[in-house]
Amino acid sequence: MKVQAATTFLCGLLSASVATAQGGPGGNNDFLSDGPFAFHVKGKGGNSSIDGYLTTLPTLATEWLLQYEAERYPKADNSSYRFYFNYTGGMQSQGDAAGFFVTDYVGASTNPVGLKGKAMSLRFDFNTNVGLALLGAGTAALSGFNADTKAFLAHYMDDSTFVPGHGPATQDYIYQYLHHLKLPAADLVKTYNFYTNVLPFQAIPSLNHYTASGKLYGALFSNGAGLLVEIRENAQQAVAQKGFDPVTWGVSTRNDLEEWAAWLASQGVKHSKILMGVKGWVLCLEDPDGKIVRLYTTEEEHEWCEPDKDDYWLNTPT
Ligand SMILES: *[C@@H]1O[C@H](CO)[C@@H](O)[C@H](O)[C@H]1NC(C)=O
Ligand SMILES: *[C@@H]1O[C@H](CO)[C@@H](O)[C@H](O)[C@H]1NC(C)=O
Ligand SMILES: *[C@@H]1O[C@H](CO)[C@@H](O)[C@H](O)[C@H]1NC(C)=O
Repeated sequence: MKVQAATTFLCGLLSASVATAQGGPGGNNDFLSDGPFAFHVKGKGGNSSIDGYLTTLPTLATEWLLQYEAERYPKADNSSYRFYFNYTGGMQSQGDAAGFFVTDYVGASTNPVGLKGKAMSLRFDFNTNVGLALLGAGTAALSGFNADTKAFLAHYMDDSTFVPGHGPATQDYIYQYLHHLKLPAADLVKTYNFYTNVLPFQAIPSLNHYTASGKLYGALFSNGAGLLVEIRENAQQAVAQKGFDPVTWGVSTRNDLEEWAAWLASQGVKHSKILMGVKGWVLCLEDPDGKIVRLYTTEEEHEWCEPDKDDYWLNTPT
């Protein structure tokens, strides 16, 4: 599968506006549409093989399922074997036009946003790479045809690394992806300076938020690996969260925590000793609002154990 950022989008809402922005043929809600196509599915395993066509199957709900039928030819007189490729002409995935597959289109009535046919989307079983293809669920999975007419999904996971029983190695999976965190601060600049000077976060001034009169009310930084954090001026929330530990950051080893403890001491930052967590070691520190920030080892772990108890640093219930 192609690997690309999260690609499921609202069909007919977002994608229609893309089409409009691209000046699609005929104006509103119009995509370029090729087809009909039949989907030939061929595969070979150890002792088995499949060779057939994809068709759709009505369910009791409004969505239809995509299913494989072991047929030698697509049934010419059956519209559920007929698919169309809708695209704007403006989106590409690694050089191939990206759009989405639609079925039940010719002669079909329009959906609430004025589009004909059922777009194909994927619904993944949580924490697996097992996806159910649904048609007409209101979203569309970005897909297309390669130069050799093989269909592709411009998708976000590398399923070659999937191990049954373990979550897939996804970065951008739509509901595992954390876009940004927001932390309250009584004094925005003070807290922001703490995160970007004492802690090693990278300021992103271009994303800062200002009121119409030019007052800074939200400031952003990044962990350098795609996660954004916003510090928002909100004294009431900052006071309410004093002593709470909303975020735990990962560090590699226990030795890293020792270096952190020395650095924090040199900066006069109040922090805990290195404590035992359930499966790693943890160091806790205070940010300028008295929220607890935790650093937790992710590479070096110990046997799972009863963690240390510490009312102040670990919020351990008694
Ligand atoms: C194929 O079938 C043989 C005989 O039943 C079996 O021993 C073998 O493990 C099978 N191979 C695969 C890859 O399933
Ligand atoms: C079309 O083919 C599907 C799958 O074989 C079948 O379930 C469906 O009843 C057929 N529809 C018509 C109108 O023949
Ligand atoms: C697909 O494109 C055709 C042609 O622009 C349009 O009539 C139809 O509504 C589109 N359907 C969907 C689901 O996008």
